[in-house]
Amino acid sequence: MPKSNSIYAGVEDVELCSEEFAKKEDNKDKLTKLRGEFIIPTKSDLANKRYGFRQSKDASNSLHGAQEDDGEESIYLCGNSLGLQPRRTKEYVNRYLDTWASKGVFGHFTDYEGGLPPWLHIDEAIKEQTAKIVGALPSEVVVMETLTANLHLLMTSFYRPTKDRWKIIIEGKAFPSDHYAALSQIAHHNLDPSALITIEPPSSSAPYLSNEHILSVISHHAPTTALVLLPGIQFYSGQFFDIELITRHCRALGITVGWDLAHAVGNVPLKLHDWNVDFAAWCNYKYMNGGPGVIGGAFVHERHSKVEEAPSSETDGAVDGVYKHAKTTELQYRPRLSGWWGSDKSSRFAMTNKFVPIPGASGFQLSNPSALDMTSVMASLDVFSMTTMDALRQRSVRLTAYLEARLLRYAGSEPPYTIITPSNPAERGAQLSVLLKPGLLDNVLHHLEKKSVVVDERKPDVLRIAPAPLYNSFHDVHRFIVVFHEACRKAIAAPDEAPQLSDGVPEAIATT
Ligand SMILES: Cc1ncc(COP(=O)(O)O)c(C=O)c1O
Repeated sequence: MPKSNSIYAGVEDVELCSEEFAKKEDNKDKLTKLRGEFIIPTKSDLANKRYGFRQSKDASNSLHGAQEDDGEESIYLCGNSLGLQPRRTKEYVNRYLDTWASKGVFGHFTDYEGGLPPWLHIDEAIKEQTAKIVGALPSEVVVMETLTANLHLLMTSFYRPTKDRWKIIIEGKAFPSDHYAALSQIAHHNLDPSALITIEPPSSSAPYLSNEHILSVISHHAPTTALVLLPGIQFYSGQFFDIELITRHCRALGITVGWDLAHAVGNVPLKLHDWNVDFAAWCNYKYMNGGPGVIGGAFVHERHSKVEEAPSSETDGAVDGVYKHAKTTELQYRPRLSGWWGSDKSSRFAMTNKFVPIPGASGFQLSNPSALDMTSVMASLDVFSMTTMDALRQRSVRLTAYLEARLLRYAGSEPPYTIITPSNPAERGAQLSVLLKPGLLDNVLHHLEKKSVVVDERKPDVLRIAPAPLYNSFHDVHRFIVVFHEACRKAIAAPDEAPQLSDGVPEAIATT
């Protein structure tokens, strides 16, 4: 495998592969300290069959109810699936629980000293920080629902097939939920499944989609296409799509474009407003560290979320895709599936049955959001606010380049794998996906598990390795490479050795 052109390409093997080098890289990076904001599971934590913690050597890592432990940290490179827990989350959630326990319904309305914002306003309290992470105006973002639900809600509003334009373009290797969502939207409009157009990669071992390829498929179908739905970062290959370029191309062709940012949010800087993205949705449990299945987020560009007075001469129904809701109000706004939480706050409790959407993304809300979820997301956002996405990205580019450089240096022979994530840092986020030679994956995973390495797998041959810039260190990457290369050698030396399930250490996960 060729050495990359990365910043580490010129460093001698002996130096680059030393533990000392990794420690020096950590020491010179100011953001390394953010790791202290997170709970890194220890090896014993992972192996422990009871739920809960043991106590690490590091006193700051000890937790309530902890038992003794030698404290060696696991090597957790799985933030692309589930981000680690910020230390402050427990405290925030406890504050929420205490407020609920001691104040009941008043927790909705009252701003208690030392407490969290009243639940009624908690969605607004986290808008500004969310907006910074995705590069939007605060009014353009909302924390609500979950990713697939938001994709549906947004497609209901933005996918308005006509007799001329009815197709949806997605990528062939889209995350299954996106595929199902797009296909079921098509079915919902009683259209034929052939309305779903997929952009296929050259092959599964070469999943890269070049801009030329993407743009040419879009151009080809443009006259009949209503919507393009793509991922900011592709979950399997780790490819970071050129959101600005593709959005510009779609908009020039009159096509609405939406983005699934599950793997991009909190990972790479985004400028959704400036890039003129029509809509986007994401989850808050990967690089955002909000907790498993926690409430997601959505972006609607301000040009789509205006609420205006309807000219009195207009009739009911859709006019240029904008709906005049004449029966209940003289307002016009984008059509949507509505719920009371999307309606104007001042009249929300008047129970008048008159839907007056909040201008901006908040007008797309349905239900009152889980305050527990919001609290957890708030804790995570408060960690993000200790830095900027640009600073995090600088660290991330170096961290991933270091992982790449170490993967490329496999002592003594050609490595038994290739990296399928683009080598251009501008075309990837934190994650590198590694395609192992056929037949190695199970054995390699077995060895990784035994050493408490947490990465995830995509059968039949891919490992996804994601150093999350908020909490992973160069030292984590060094420790991973030592174990991973040893695992590869063992798997090659004893290919038929049936992997035994490890002693309580969870199997490497194949989740999201
Ligand atoms: C790219 C992508 N899209 C959609 C989903 C589905 O997310 P959810 O289960 O939150 O709807 C995931 C889940 O990880 C994902 O990675």
